[in-house]
Amino acid sequence: MNKGKKVGEERALPGEQAASLLSLRNEYVPKGVFQIAPIFISKGKGALIEDVDGNEYIDFAAGISVLNIGHCHDKVVSAIKEQADKYLHTCFHVLMYESYVKLAEKLAEITPGNFPKQVLLTNSGAEAVENSVKVARRYTGRYGIIAFEHAFHGRTTLAMGLTSQVKYYKYGFGPFDPGIQRFPYAYTYRAPFKTTDAEYGEYCVRTIEDSFKTYMPAEAIAAIIVEPVLGEGGYVIPPVEFLKGLRRICDDYGILFIADEIQSGMGRTGKMWAIEHFEVVPDILVAAKSLGGGMVLSAVIGRRDIMDSVDIGGLGSTFGGNPVSCVAALQTIEVIEQDKLLDRAIKLGKITKDRLEGMKEKYGVIGDVRGLGSLIGVEFVADRKTKEPATKEAGEIRQKCLEHGLITMPCGVLHNVFRLIFPLVIKEDELEKGLDILEEAIKEVDQAMS
Ligand SMILES: Cc1ncc(COP(=O)(O)O)c(C=O)c1O
Repeated sequence: MNKGKKVGEERALPGEQAASLLSLRNEYVPKGVFQIAPIFISKGKGALIEDVDGNEYIDFAAGISVLNIGHCHDKVVSAIKEQADKYLHTCFHVLMYESYVKLAEKLAEITPGNFPKQVLLTNSGAEAVENSVKVARRYTGRYGIIAFEHAFHGRTTLAMGLTSQVKYYKYGFGPFDPGIQRFPYAYTYRAPFKTTDAEYGEYCVRTIEDSFKTYMPAEAIAAIIVEPVLGEGGYVIPPVEFLKGLRRICDDYGILFIADEIQSGMGRTGKMWAIEHFEVVPDILVAAKSLGGGMVLSAVIGRRDIMDSVDIGGLGSTFGGNPVSCVAALQTIEVIEQDKLLDRAIKLGKITKDRLEGMKEKYGVIGDVRGLGSLIGVEFVADRKTKEPATKEAGEIRQKCLEHGLITMPCGVLHNVFRLIFPLVIKEDELEKGLDILEEAIKEVDQAMS
């Protein structure tokens, strides 16, 4: 029997059952494994979650962008069950299976670039990022990698080096790869001087090109790795001049362009990959998160000459491209295509952005609303003029949302941005209800500030 609270009703957190599991968690799981909510799930479907105390929630976090097609999509669940009855694992290096090669073919087909491609399947986003760098270094024979401020590429040692957030992603874990060079991302809302978006994009590109004379020669740079839209760093959409300029630098100096689409890809922006909005074709694209529809999977998709430059045995892993994950991914892509989720991402994104723009007119705590399809960020500031980040207030808004049944996810180096990553299968009344809860929380916090 459901004894918990419905979405919209206030609940005490943690609930009774959650409190007992929380004490186990605190005893046996290190505190470094962070949580955003004292909630333990019992089941999820679409955009709805029920916790172990029977409370219901609308999910605007989607397991950090993993559930673009929602919790437990029927087609994905049946593909997993069917596969689980046949075989769970062989290791692709030991025995091959059809779903690995079919998925590789499909990914080559649906990624940008009208050239032959090859695909390596891996487990996590970080592992895909690491492999993209390995391949780029092997192909070019160069060691330098250009990454950006506010970037997030993962938590393994090389990926952590590429990541640009000290506390607590990198704190105390160095040293990092000496080939990594870092430059400003065209985060136009926080441009350090008065400029237009286009000019700032061009300025950021110029900074890199200038550095070839002062930091590291272009001939030493293997790749530029960039998130077409910043994820963890604050859901920042750069001007087109930025990404086009990076592509131009790559072309001029024989550098490879790696697009990290781990968070921005798989239909979230209204195109399969965010980079398509900028009409830029990467040499290598890395995907993960929503690729497996909830299962563990990542991929490195690249030009065939680049991917095939690695010697036999230079790539792989025990679990990479697990057969259960591969069938889940094939189904996930089919769902996105057949259910027209790209159109839906645009429609839902417009509803959400319109509501947020309306809120921005009323509540000074909202400094910026930005989005591409259903990849939407709201940046909270303590003062619109100085743009001082409202980190504490963002935390209070998040807590009020949780207590009324809405799960939201912060981002930005100072955690003052909300990323609204609802599953693209969310019903419109669920989306509106979630936005009502969010507005109420923003209103309360905004009133307390003034
Ligand atoms: C853009 C981007 N790259 C890489 C990663 C790392 O992925 P994983 O956590 O699966 O290693 C993430 C995770 O948030 C990400 O958002």
